[in-house]
Amino acid sequence: MSVHAAPDRASSPSRPVSIHDLRASKERGERFAMLTAYDASSAALLDELGVPVILVGDSLGMVALGYESTVPVTLDEMLHHTRAVARGAPHSLVVGDLPFGTYQDGPSQAFASAVRMLKEGGANAVKLEGGGPMVEVTAHLVRAGIPVMGHLGLTPQSVNQFGGFKVQGRDEEAAEQLVADAIALADAGAFAIVLECIPEDLAARVTTAVPVPTIGIGAGPSCDAQVLVWHDLLGLTTGRLPRFVKQYADLRSEVAGAVKAFVSEVADGEYPGPEHTY
Ligand code: KIV
Repeated sequence: MSVHAAPDRASSPSRPVSIHDLRASKERGERFAMLTAYDASSAALLDELGVPVILVGDSLGMVALGYESTVPVTLDEMLHHTRAVARGAPHSLVVGDLPFGTYQDGPSQAFASAVRMLKEGGANAVKLEGGGPMVEVTAHLVRAGIPVMGHLGLTPQSVNQFGGFKVQGRDEEAAEQLVADAIALADAGAFAIVLECIPEDLAARVTTAVPVPTIGIGAGPSCDAQVLVWHDLLGLTTGRLPRFVKQYADLRSEVAGAVKAFVSEVADGEYPGPEHTY
């Protein structure tokens, strides 16, 4: 498998990425990356860098809104940030997470929420968590022309049921259920499936079993794609991080240095200098 930053963008740099490009990537054996973003300027940078998929995750609640989990996030909060991301990213595929309580009641509730995500949020697709009853929800949305990304394994909106953020699918029964859910979601028309915090051999089984791309986070290297949260990638998060996080930068230290320099230059009367003054 080779690594490709942006499916099909090399041949047509100004064409927006579609769900079909992602499937074609899997068929060609080309891995791709997805990243979260929550505002227009970050989204514009990712778009410019050719990141094919931007997820406006409900991780928004934890990394930007100060909630303890994703459970309190509302659809209006998601729409506010999804609109900003969609404005910033004309080429990347923008996926808006449906937050807890806005789709679990069934197909019509999910349809109403997903329509808002596309019409008011400007997203190209929605993501929803879970298998089982979410298969019918997925089929309903897809029939209505709404692209759906599935999400299996550790589904953070169910953290209260799991009793914490724990690796899922460890025993064979749970593993078999997860493979069956993934196949059912793909059959229902999901265009990709996030696999979060599951053993790598299970992720490999799912990746082989479904024709659509699997997007791993804490699911090992066999997935067709990988996703990280913006704040984790850049080293902006504090505290104990999950094992799967790789910090590619230490922006927290960089930002702290800049803020300290500003505060001290203001105190010393060094800033603004003549070159900053009209
Ligand atoms: O909300 C989110 O950012 C997510 C990703 C971690 C997959 O669901």
